[in-house]
Amino acid sequence: MSETQAYLPSAAWQEQAHVKGMAAYQALVAESEADYQGYWARLAREFVTWQTPFTQVLNESNAPFFKWFEDGRLNVSYNCLDRNVERGLGDKVAIIFEADDGAVTKVTYSELLAKTAQLANVLKSRGVKKGDRVVIYMSMSVEGVAAMQACARIGATHSVVFGGFSAQSLRDRVQDAGAVMVITADEQLRGGKALPLKSIVDEALADGSCPTLKDVIVYQRTGGKIGWVEGRDHWLHELLAGQSTVCEPEWVEAEHPLFLLYTSGSTGKPKGVQHSSGGYLLHAALTTKWTFDLKDNDVFWCTADIGWVTGHSYIAYGPLALGGTEIVFEGVPTYPDAGRFWKMIEKHKVSIFYTAPTAIRSLIKAAETSEAVHPARYDLSSLRLLGSVGEPINPAAWEWYHKHVGGGRCPIVDTFWQTETGGHMITPLPGATPLIPGSCTLPFPGITTAIVDETGNDVPNGQGGILVVKKPWPSMIRTIWNDPDRFKKSYYPSELKGYYLAGDGAIRDADTGYFTITGRIDDVLNVSGHRMGTMEIESALVSCTELVAEAAVVGRPDDTTGEAICAFVVLKRPRPTGDEAKVIAKQLRDHVAKEIGPIAKPKDIRFGDNLPKTRSGKIMRRLLRSVAKGEAVTQDTSTLENPAILEQLGQAY
Ligand code: PRX
Repeated sequence: MSETQAYLPSAAWQEQAHVKGMAAYQALVAESEADYQGYWARLAREFVTWQTPFTQVLNESNAPFFKWFEDGRLNVSYNCLDRNVERGLGDKVAIIFEADDGAVTKVTYSELLAKTAQLANVLKSRGVKKGDRVVIYMSMSVEGVAAMQACARIGATHSVVFGGFSAQSLRDRVQDAGAVMVITADEQLRGGKALPLKSIVDEALADGSCPTLKDVIVYQRTGGKIGWVEGRDHWLHELLAGQSTVCEPEWVEAEHPLFLLYTSGSTGKPKGVQHSSGGYLLHAALTTKWTFDLKDNDVFWCTADIGWVTGHSYIAYGPLALGGTEIVFEGVPTYPDAGRFWKMIEKHKVSIFYTAPTAIRSLIKAAETSEAVHPARYDLSSLRLLGSVGEPINPAAWEWYHKHVGGGRCPIVDTFWQTETGGHMITPLPGATPLIPGSCTLPFPGITTAIVDETGNDVPNGQGGILVVKKPWPSMIRTIWNDPDRFKKSYYPSELKGYYLAGDGAIRDADTGYFTITGRIDDVLNVSGHRMGTMEIESALVSCTELVAEAAVVGRPDDTTGEAICAFVVLKRPRPTGDEAKVIAKQLRDHVAKEIGPIAKPKDIRFGDNLPKTRSGKIMRRLLRSVAKGEAVTQDTSTLENPAILEQLGQAY
């Protein structure tokens, strides 16, 4: 990582950026170090409009259940909508919505406020109150964003479930959250196809196993045929008719749970990550301003789905809190062809573009196969900044993105963060940080990331270790819904001196101190930037009780998706080969799709008479990882009960 490889911010960039140059970055870091609470308090006053100003900044008395700005009151939706209208931005476009078929709808701040207020009135009319949980199972739409904002407006806690999750996953989340309402659409349009949403909700709720659930509100997107449960189901447009476009915001305490977002961990059960209102909003807005350098005339496009945290912080909240103009895109990057992203950047004059490495890698492949979808064929001159999120970006993809999408002139912010962190943790600031492809560079000012060993001691630069955050920060996870013990054990294990455990390994460069994330250190996989637990997939496989006796799931590197899911399965019948193996593998993939969702389908399924185990019966996953990669097993297998099994599991069919 020598200095010569670094991409330095141009003089023009340094001059115009919100954070101008490394000295400015260092001054912010120094400010946060000199007076940690004072630093965050200053920013919380600058970025958030408080109905009741806070007098306390950080309450550590019940660590690790930290509280920020505890006695302050605010409303997140007020901050994202009314406040912008009040400062004269009512006619400014908040959202440019592009549908799957290319139709464009523009929604101004006044319109989004009216829509949100009406929707909030609908929720109130159905009896939804402050603190109630509302599950949102929607496609990418203005209504999806408005539904999130409407919950925030009345102090209901939303839990958005990604539209690709199965009925079973949706049911688990509705139950765990104790949701009173599901907001959904009849269908969603993606890649020219209508895909079901409402029928999946019906299936999830069919057996009456969600006793807290009262209402299902349905946004009519396609007009496709759907089932209907009288009394429970309501069309959104019918409930909206006659509702006032004014809805007084509910002023909530800063710690009030704005949302739960379920994510995967090391056990079979996803965890409901609980975020606050005040601290979360602060970091979403602050990082949007400093990391993305958002300005009044920018057109910002984050391609994430609102079902993931990126779509929360950088679609539903951050850009709106700053009065920005953003794109919401319903479709997929490859429809009608793999030039869709570039075409949309050209059409809408997008200036800031934020996407995932998997998308970049698949578009590189497409561009290499067909000139017609190469970014060079489009006018991308409106772009000034690029971003990457969700997984490590390999230097080759970084260089391509920089050269062919950014025209060599746009900095790339490789932002490391997590569902639990609420916003960027380690990231370049585009007018300040020299960029090194493959490194997420340095901590965001005020964020105290470090690399330690198993006992929480700092390791020297150049030596890999465990990524931690030493001090609490405003947008951090507050708890796991219904499971405070799991929160403590997962994120604040006693041996780590009270540091937050991110679950990733990392290394700092010996010269620059730059961070590079080396991947998860727990049983979590990252496939196309989607986070999945190996245990979740294993439990989905073994729930196919008529077929599966035992299953072990590991990740293996994949050129496009980063990691691919590889499942080793022992059946309750003799090990299949040839065509029979193919048929059963398909059956198992479909079963996983039904249990979790298509994103969790294993790419490889290998069958064995057994799994590699120690004499005490523990599955030796490190060996399975080698087998999955197709490598010769060079590790010590002396503790293995049944060494011959490795060869069998390595065989394709
Ligand atoms: O392993 C890290 C990886 O994604 C994990 C968090 O996943 P999730 O909670 O789904 O949030 C994704 C969007 C923020 C992390 O623990 N990850 C995220 N961003 C990066 C990354 N790995 C390397 N570089 C990144 N920029």
